[in-house]
Amino acid sequence: MITLQDNKTTTYNNTTKPQHHNTAQDFMPINGTDYLELYVSNAKQAAHYYKAAFGFQSLAYRGLETGSRETESYVVAQDKIRLVLTSPLKSGTDIGRHIDKHGDGVKVNALWVDDATYAYEEAMKRGAAHFMSPSVEEDEHGKIVRSGIRSYGEVVHVFVERKDYRGVFLPGFEKWTTNYNPPSVGLKFVDHMVGNVELGNMNKWVKFYEEVMGFTQIMSFDDKDISTEYTALMSKVMSSGNGRIKFPINEPAPGLKKSQVDEYLEFYEGEGVQHVAVATDNIVETVTQLRNRGVEFLTIPSAYYDVLQERVGKIDENIDALKKLGILVDRDDEGYLLQIFTKTVQARPTMFFEIIQRKGATSFGKGNFKALFEAIEREQELRGTL
Ligand code: FE2
Repeated sequence: MITLQDNKTTTYNNTTKPQHHNTAQDFMPINGTDYLELYVSNAKQAAHYYKAAFGFQSLAYRGLETGSRETESYVVAQDKIRLVLTSPLKSGTDIGRHIDKHGDGVKVNALWVDDATYAYEEAMKRGAAHFMSPSVEEDEHGKIVRSGIRSYGEVVHVFVERKDYRGVFLPGFEKWTTNYNPPSVGLKFVDHMVGNVELGNMNKWVKFYEEVMGFTQIMSFDDKDISTEYTALMSKVMSSGNGRIKFPINEPAPGLKKSQVDEYLEFYEGEGVQHVAVATDNIVETVTQLRNRGVEFLTIPSAYYDVLQERVGKIDENIDALKKLGILVDRDDEGYLLQIFTKTVQARPTMFFEIIQRKGATSFGKGNFKALFEAIEREQELRGTL
């Protein structure tokens, strides 16, 4: 049995090359991200924000009108991305306690599997901590099986088996229709989801994803890659066997001042989800729409673009358009990627989003880390938390 308290560190090379050292078969095939559930203080208003600002569409609802007396959830969707926004309807609930401690944040990363009972049993056999035993939920549209295990902080993974279900989301939810339906901005699917963990815990969670979930470490960055004058962090990227699920895990590294990961851990009051990266196939158009709809992004100094062409070579996009929007570019052996980061999206300086377009590249924008972290530090400076 794996003990998740084991902090013994494994020595990995400081390299961004894929490391296929884990030859275990894929005992945990995952089809994709099923949904992300955020516990928020006002689900109704949060749903409106994600529709108005980020181009999500109304999908499903569960609350008093559907017989749910304790919680209210709005589900919004954009292509393959589903966000569930949940608030408590009374005091003294576990969700209320979660919000009191962490502010708004991601509670559930739900994974779409063919067999939620098998996934749970395999994970438990390999040392996972229990969250939810396999349970069948049914309505007139069929049945869903869900189960769940715990991850870092209070984050959980829920396995969702939906092959026998034809309803709009999950049993208990009704279709949510509204008169306000702003168009999509072209977001397609969750590319990766990043966790921030306490100093010394990164390798524990790397081991968890390897041994409990059958993931492989595909990249690692240390403080030599990711440091600025003041702060540093270390990161390892875990990927499911088929590459559809990628979880980078960050831990703070000692620096002259407080790092962005430390700031997160302080304000989230623990480990949790730092950012969710969502993919588009036209980042210039998507970011133009997002900016028009009030989404705020980190700003990058114009000097970044003076050397961009030299750094990344020929790209399809017009560099002036990228500069105007603040979009970053990086290249790896397989191609290039374009990315941009929002400012944090709730009261506390905790979670944010990344918009990413991959043109062959499978990496995470290492060449942008310095410019990016300096941009984050300018924000920290304004908050007085650097
Ligand atoms: Fe990212």
